[in-house]
Amino acid sequence: MNELRTLISETAIQARIKELGQAIRLDYQDSSLTCICVLRGALFFAADLLRNIGGDVRIEFIILSTHQEPLCSEVLYFSGQIEGEHCVLIEDIVETGHTLEVLVDYLNQFSPKTLRSVSLLDKPSNRDHRVRPDYIGFSIPNEFVVGYGLDLQGKYRALSHIAAYIP
Ligand code: IMP
Ligand code: MG
Repeated sequence: MNELRTLISETAIQARIKELGQAIRLDYQDSSLTCICVLRGALFFAADLLRNIGGDVRIEFIILSTHQEPLCSEVLYFSGQIEGEHCVLIEDIVETGHTLEVLVDYLNQFSPKTLRSVSLLDKPSNRDHRVRPDYIGFSIPNEFVVGYGLDLQGKYRALSHIAAYIP
């Protein structure tokens, strides 16, 4: 039987998001900020984070499709107009860094004023690209995790906590 083991509780997630939101708002003072949510995984994180950043904060969405072999990613959809804007890309998890690198390169083509990234989770053990999110919620060990937006073939996204999936 497959098993889920709680890794980060709902309370811990919400407390950390409050801290992240405050830290981001402090860094941008009262500037307007455009957050770019990577669908689908960052959906819940983005919703909670935006409310904690507060002030003049806007939201856009980006969808990426990734083919594994050969590894290749393509942006399928981007809702935004970000030229001259302060932007923060919102990701669920950064593992190898491939996705983050592709997204940052793509968004930079639109000449944002600044572009930073925030990831709820960082799994640095498998990093093979020289990228790191500017803000990180939690650093986790090399386990496959689900919940709070993260899925396994579409399942488990709606859990309010993050769990390690034990096959
Ligand atoms: P990267 O391109 O290797 O950094 O991987 C990032 C993408 O892989 C994330 O956006 C997720 O979609 C997926 N991913 C990586 N690790 C996990 C995990 O533990 N659970 C669910 N999805 C994951
Ligand atoms: Mg993802």
